[in-house]
Amino acid sequence: MYDTLEEINEEVKNCRKCKLCNNRKNTVFGTGNPKCKIMFIGEGPGADEDSTGIPFVGKAGKLMNQAFLSLGIERNDVYIANIVKCRPPNNRNPEKDEAKSCMDYLRNQVLVIKPKIIVLLGNVALKNILGEEYGITKSRGKWIEKKGILYMPTFHPAALLRNEGLKIDFWNDLKLVLEEAKK
Ligand code: URA
Ligand code: SF4
Repeated sequence: MYDTLEEINEEVKNCRKCKLCNNRKNTVFGTGNPKCKIMFIGEGPGADEDSTGIPFVGKAGKLMNQAFLSLGIERNDVYIANIVKCRPPNNRNPEKDEAKSCMDYLRNQVLVIKPKIIVLLGNVALKNILGEEYGITKSRGKWIEKKGILYMPTFHPAALLRNEGLKIDFWNDLKLVLEEAKK
């Protein structure tokens, strides 16, 4: 059991548990408020995140920031992390063994943060955390409670860049999250 996120991050920085360590510039551990109620989980770092070590700073991140701004969510009030902490080559999805190797770090982040709500951004986050039987199209917008945590699956912001029509669902899902967080 870890007391702080920093202790976990020290391990991540030096981690060589999977092949994604070979091409990374930086590990991308996660950022935000360690005492938050709402945690967001994405897939893995892209090029901009790999360069900076900060999650969701590229195009998808900018779209997420817009949603946050319009809904009154401060990035510093929530916590944002990913399934894998190192960038998959050419932004491919993390492979099963990579996600599995990295999962203990995320599990420990959740144990330290103890969020009320976890927003799962897209299929990679959803399937790795709740199980392969789930799919984002069916599950998005519906609460799933597991071991005292409320999960809200929604679209990955990168999906909204490809399909503008999904934005309204994403916005509505985040509204549900905000309402629940205030209870
Ligand atoms: N996409 C993700 O899933 N995570 C990031 O940090 C950036 C883009
Ligand atoms: Fe370690 Fe995770 Fe990076 Fe793989 S992706 S090397 S498990 S930190």
